Amino acid sequence: MTTRRALLRMVAGTAIAGCATASTHDVDAELARLHRRLRDLPAEIVADDESYWAVVRAGYDVDPRVVNLNNAGVCPTPRSVLEAMKAAWDAGNPLPAHTLLRVQEKKVEDVRRALAAFLACDPESLAITRNASESMATFALGLPLAPGDEVVVTDHNYPRVLQTWAQRARRDGIVVKTVSPASEASDDALFDLVFSAVGPKTKVVEICHVTNVLGRVWPVARITAEARRRGIVVVVDGAHAVHHVPLSIEGLGATHYAASLHKWVGAPVGTGLMVLGKDRIREHFALMPPPANLEGDIRKFEETGTRPAAPRLAILEALRWQESIGLARKRARLSRLRSRITDRLRGRSDVRVLGAAGEEQAPGITYIALPGRDPKVVTARLFERHGILVVGVPAWREPGIRISPNVYTTTTDIDRFSEAFESVLKETS
Ligand SMILES: Cc1ncc(COP(=O)(O)O)c(C=O)c1O
Repeated sequence: MTTRRALLRMVAGTAIAGCATASTHDVDAELARLHRRLRDLPAEIVADDESYWAVVRAGYDVDPRVVNLNNAGVCPTPRSVLEAMKAAWDAGNPLPAHTLLRVQEKKVEDVRRALAAFLACDPESLAITRNASESMATFALGLPLAPGDEVVVTDHNYPRVLQTWAQRARRDGIVVKTVSPASEASDDALFDLVFSAVGPKTKVVEICHVTNVLGRVWPVARITAEARRRGIVVVVDGAHAVHHVPLSIEGLGATHYAASLHKWVGAPVGTGLMVLGKDRIREHFALMPPPANLEGDIRKFEETGTRPAAPRLAILEALRWQESIGLARKRARLSRLRSRITDRLRGRSDVRVLGAAGEEQAPGITYIALPGRDPKVVTARLFERHGILVVGVPAWREPGIRISPNVYTTTTDIDRFSEAFESVLKETS
């Protein structure tokens, strides 16, 4: 097996590593060369190689003024994705009534097939939406429910989705029951808590695949299997799951699955998806009423009026880019970056890293509770005085900050964060 030293020799000296202005073509060629060479190396070894990740970074337009550690909110696209989107936009512009509506909309079918293969589901059950919020609203507002029907949610779910269920309760008289898992609940505890709230009137359970604040990976397959046995629909919010944790829609047994593509897939802003079991499409209401001939067709959820095809077409390039790096290498790298943050905080009594271990923790998300401090002050100081972007979560039951690096993040970035964070903790103690 190739040794680590040999790996370093292979990658070191590459002209592109560290070069902020490399062209997309040069980055692609260099990555293709490296991927051929690294093919047989364990992801854990590649994870440590800054030279390799510097080539990956050269594929992004990184803002040199700021260390961006909020990639879980919305992530910059790799430059090649942006170029693919711009090219499609330019091509569609001169004659949009023809090129956009007749030519490009047809090409979106290739994207649907590619996404379905990527997620292991039937393309006829996959709609491309504008984001996870739209997909989740389609589920929450479009499921056929009667007054008195119960929906079980958790307070780890995304606030906008909880607001959507609350509106449905006000408008249609459904009943929303909320459970509150402990921050460090085990899989068994999560499973038991959800089903402790399920009763004879429960029609729906809504859970996150990966939670937004803690990055907890929920035992979706287990919950889905038990719910199916009881005739209950499980709506899964997978906004943070795609190309972040191993994912197969079929493997999860998910019939209602939503995701963002502008987060961990790095597709353009304005792209997301929903998967809905084929046998449920006809009975499910769309947000915008579709023409009658589409009632049983997954495309009815894409009937949102005139919209650009370019962001959707560029999803293909985002998938190609992510697959070239590979989920195993990406996860190993994100885990390294996470450990670099958490190792340095070990032993401090004034902050607390919340989260799970192993596969139960999504590696790209790290949550640090800051007892006695205002996360808004901490995030403002990090940004304004140190050029570090993280997100504060003041409304969480243990207020704190969330850190989410990505494949273009360097260990130097992480060290800059750690030093700045230590200094802000000192100033605010
Ligand atoms: C768990 C979860 N669900 C849904 C969303 C909404 O995603 P989008 O911005 O794609 O609408 C987010 C956004 O951060 C999220 O974290």
